[in-house]
Amino acid sequence: MRGAGEFLPERITLPTLRAAVATCRGCPLYLHATQAVFGEGEVSARVMLIGEQPGDSEDLAGKPFVGPAGRLLDEALAAGGIPRDRTYVTNVVKHFKFTQRGKRRIHDKPTRYEVEACRPWLTAELELVAPDIVVVLGATAAQALLGRAFRVTKARGVELETSLARHTFATVHPASVLRSPDEELRREARDALFADLRAVGECYHRLDERHPITATADPPSNSSASPSGT
Ligand code: URA
Ligand code: SF4
Repeated sequence: MRGAGEFLPERITLPTLRAAVATCRGCPLYLHATQAVFGEGEVSARVMLIGEQPGDSEDLAGKPFVGPAGRLLDEALAAGGIPRDRTYVTNVVKHFKFTQRGKRRIHDKPTRYEVEACRPWLTAELELVAPDIVVVLGATAAQALLGRAFRVTKARGVELETSLARHTFATVHPASVLRSPDEELRREARDALFADLRAVGECYHRLDERHPITATADPPSNSSASPSGT
């Protein structure tokens, strides 16, 4: 497997990465997918959400988290008071992996080799966006980013110490909530996902308190400007 490294652009920006990922042949997943699905959001986003790989809807739309799992993610973000358009949303693997069953395309889990092959794209996104908060969604992303021993079910919704960002959280994948076998379990899983995103929301809303922007700059001595809130 070649890996994505050789497909990275020379000058790394979100637009150059987005253009380059469309040409990636770093692993065989490009062969059957409609298109690569790169992350979406502003380079200035302070929260980055990282899922597994695009699903059927994302593969067709070319954007991450726009199908059923994405709608649930939107609701969970709203529960945490985090506007989706202020986040950067992406996946560890950029092409949809599936098995064709009749007319349906059934999601397949990417292998660890595919995850490794694709990692340079995510590494570049993390370096460029440099989010204050990373939210890891589901077991595949957690194993890729937090280690193979990490169990989302055991450490969800609490702040983790990582080198990914100043604040890191993990939770289940929204698609796993949708796969719950009955109505009651689905409601419980959904409530738990929303609770995790509320914990992220609390952290998000404390960002400026804890790390005031004014503290990072030398205050001009002759300025009439005063710190906000005074
Ligand atoms: N599931 C993911 O992990 N990512 C998407 O973009 C959509 C569904
Ligand atoms: Fe490249 Fe990742 Fe697509 Fe594989 S899944 S071809 S490494 S972009």
